[in-house]
Amino acid sequence: MDEALRRVLGWNGCNQAGQAAMTSASAINPYDAVAYPGHSFAQTHPARLATIAHFHGMSPALPSAMRVLELGCGRGGNLVPMAAQFPQSDFLGIDLSADSIRQASETAAAFGLRNLAFRQQDILTLEADLGRFDYIIVHGVYSWVPEAVRERIIALFGMLLAPQGVAYVSYNALPGCRLRDLARDVMLHAVRDIDDPQERVRVARATLKAVAEASDPESFHGVVLRERCKQIDELPDNVLYHDDLNPGARAFALHEVLAVAERHGLQFLAEASFPNVHGGAKEAARQMLAQIPVEQVARREQTLDMLIGRAFRETLLCREAVPLRRGIRPDALRPYYLSADVRPALRQPEPERPGAERFEFHEGVGLSVDLPQCKAALAVLGEIWPASVSWPELVERSCRGAGIAAGPAWAREVARLEEALIAIFKAGLLDIRLEPPPLTTEVSERPAASAVARWQASTSFEVTDQRHRMVQLDSIVVRKFVSLLDGSRDQAMLLDAMNAFLAETRAAGIAEPNLPERATAAEVAMHLKDVARLALLRA
Ligand SMILES: C[S@@+](CC[C@H](N)C(=O)[O-])C[C@H]1O[C@@H](n2cnc3c(N)ncnc32)[C@H](O)[C@@H]1O
Repeated sequence: MDEALRRVLGWNGCNQAGQAAMTSASAINPYDAVAYPGHSFAQTHPARLATIAHFHGMSPALPSAMRVLELGCGRGGNLVPMAAQFPQSDFLGIDLSADSIRQASETAAAFGLRNLAFRQQDILTLEADLGRFDYIIVHGVYSWVPEAVRERIIALFGMLLAPQGVAYVSYNALPGCRLRDLARDVMLHAVRDIDDPQERVRVARATLKAVAEASDPESFHGVVLRERCKQIDELPDNVLYHDDLNPGARAFALHEVLAVAERHGLQFLAEASFPNVHGGAKEAARQMLAQIPVEQVARREQTLDMLIGRAFRETLLCREAVPLRRGIRPDALRPYYLSADVRPALRQPEPERPGAERFEFHEGVGLSVDLPQCKAALAVLGEIWPASVSWPELVERSCRGAGIAAGPAWAREVARLEEALIAIFKAGLLDIRLEPPPLTTEVSERPAASAVARWQASTSFEVTDQRHRMVQLDSIVVRKFVSLLDGSRDQAMLLDAMNAFLAETRAAGIAEPNLPERATAAEVAMHLKDVARLALLRA
């Protein structure tokens, strides 16, 4: 049972509270009763939103000087690392839950973040006097609040967005969620008269399992229930409680959200997963999508959802008056810093074409590449990951690496490289940024992780990296190691501190599998490389 859920023992009236978030702030907020896990969400990061906006021809505020608002910010897991990363920018988080705001404010104060404020307030009562914001983020809220709050969220985008501002809103999407609802209906019916949060979760899980197992495995319904049951097994209790067991939660088709946005003077900019234009669609689906002109992007995206059964959307909106450039031009990558989590495949299978080399991307995609300068480019990107490289530098290193000499062939070969990388970019395998992420892969004399990551490492296995992703640390040894990286220790000092920690851990009788007797200088050097590869070292 999740610790957060344990803490609500003794509290009664969950069903009323479940309704509370859907009615008004005066009733008990369920997020006060059962805490929601706080995270950083890379896809909401303004550096990413700025890049997508710029790609579409906008002039967005740069992350080094911006105002950011998050509605339904919870305990600040998303805003705290952002604010720590960009001390020159201003951040404001609003949430109805007093408990979440208290914790968020304590965390911000602990880091001395003067550029970040948290306020307990109902979204319904927010007004234009909050001022203008370059980025407004609303993650994990829209589908789980009542109609009036949903309408207000979009109205606030219309009121508060700067002229070149970007709003991010995520929601459960149709038609994909209809399949999930087959299992949700089973669970909601089973818990309809249960108030206690723990009991709701226990009964929901048990009933779904029993019903799924007893259903006909040959039937469509039985297959869907079993599949969803497996997914729900992986969900933490507090997420299941708030997300699936909120009886008021609703999924929306993109066109429904865009209809509200239009009423408030907004337009569809892109999906936060841009440029993954095909969303994993296979060839026949791609052909269908290709029939739709790029200017009709909303129609194209809606068709994509129908084709792939998308169940979650992260939609970016901007003001309707902003002229947007659609489509991906052949020279589109030139203004950006590029990166990719890619490596040459360990086992090179029989090449499909002579000279082809196989690369594996973190996303689980394998690619055979035969263009020499593209192979060189992927090798460069793999070597420097998680850092990024500017377009001119990548071209230079790739073409030189492929033995292309300056001269008449140079421009033609660069164009071929550009075409190949655009195809990889369209598949969502290449990350682009207007500014390079503030990280380094060089291990300095006294390496430093961010204060937020160090604090997270001292309290949990999950930390926020310099790309704003949550990364998993796999042992208390690595956690301790990250917590020591405050820029004051060289490798010899890190080794001493690790050995002191190992001795204390053993003396305290803490049972930890594979706890080494002593650390070695070679292990410290190896850990530093690993931490750098995890994007945890600050620039
Ligand atoms: C599912 S949590 C998401 C938290 C965070 N954004 C995340 O994704 O981890 C929804 C949050 O919205 C807040 N919320 C719900 N209704 C609200 C309202 N009317 N005004 C302000 N916040 C609200 C809840 O208190 C809760 O913290």
